[in-house]
Amino acid sequence: MPHLWLRDNCGCGDCRIAQTDEKKFMVSSVRADLEPTSAELSDDQLRIVWPDGHRSTYQGKLLRAFGSTDEITWSSWPRDFTPYRCAYRPFLDDNPTAADAIVRFVADGAMILEQAPTEPGTLECLAPRLGPVREVLFDRIHDVAVDPSGYNVAHTPLPLPPHNDFASYTWPPSVQALHMLANETPGGESIIVDGWAVLKGLRAEHPDYFDVLRRVAVPFREFDEDTETFAVEPIVRCDAEDRIAGLRFSNQLMQAIDPNDPRAVDFYQAYRELCRRITDPASQVSFRLNGGEILVVAAHRVLHGRRAFEPDRRRHLQDAYFEFDNVKNQLVVLQRKGGPER
Ligand SMILES: [Fe+2]
Ligand SMILES: [Zn+2]
Repeated sequence: MPHLWLRDNCGCGDCRIAQTDEKKFMVSSVRADLEPTSAELSDDQLRIVWPDGHRSTYQGKLLRAFGSTDEITWSSWPRDFTPYRCAYRPFLDDNPTAADAIVRFVADGAMILEQAPTEPGTLECLAPRLGPVREVLFDRIHDVAVDPSGYNVAHTPLPLPPHNDFASYTWPPSVQALHMLANETPGGESIIVDGWAVLKGLRAEHPDYFDVLRRVAVPFREFDEDTETFAVEPIVRCDAEDRIAGLRFSNQLMQAIDPNDPRAVDFYQAYRELCRRITDPASQVSFRLNGGEILVVAAHRVLHGRRAFEPDRRRHLQDAYFEFDNVKNQLVVLQRKGGPER
């Protein structure tokens, strides 16, 4: 084991802050070539004495626990996927119900809360479960209805191709809740796409396309007279282990890339193929979101959109944003209160 790791992870009262269970020891306070003066293994405990006389004890059970993971893993949706449904009131009031729904949400990236009020502003009530509202410019809670002065295609009756919102932020909101207040118009069915499943397929069949989408930064802009949001970021984001971690896709907000960039030709081949896969009906799950239903999506993974509708009757949606970290970590809190084992 790395000696610096052992020294850095000493659990004694001098090395940690007892009140907060945080680390106090700073690794730069010892030499880079630090070695134990003595090390002894007995009763499943490792006992080390360091050159300055400091003593550390490690439980074997804890040392062996590293490398195992209790992370909820995602998997592509089955062909007949429909989002997990949970009643709104129990989701807010009953901890085990909320924990079950959040486990499903973390794995699937989508769920529907049904039998919700149809009052404007209801999304504020989700904050105790989903964490604080992630505010962005424009509004804290966004109204989506036909509006001739609207700043976005969502405010027209036109079809909305699958996208995630606010690609024009360096860190777009990672959870989006779409609350249907009234849906009386013909058409306008909701569409969701498992963006990570699309990327997984693209990576398997066209690794070169995947790579271009990961390397070329693309400008995105959303604005009106009083507001300006703009970010230049790649469409695909991977984590430190090279796993897919984010899809940023908004045809409507995307701005022109530099046509003189030597990668522009390859980028367009890759972008075209991604668009083809996202708009392929086989990638899309479609359903009618009724008044009193809230669709919640993991927005760095799942794209949302809708079909065109007849603007003659009432259709009013509100959306608000949250952060995936807060939703996922809420499970730990719920488990402390007696929810299901993760
Ligand atoms: Fe949207
Ligand atoms: Zn110590």
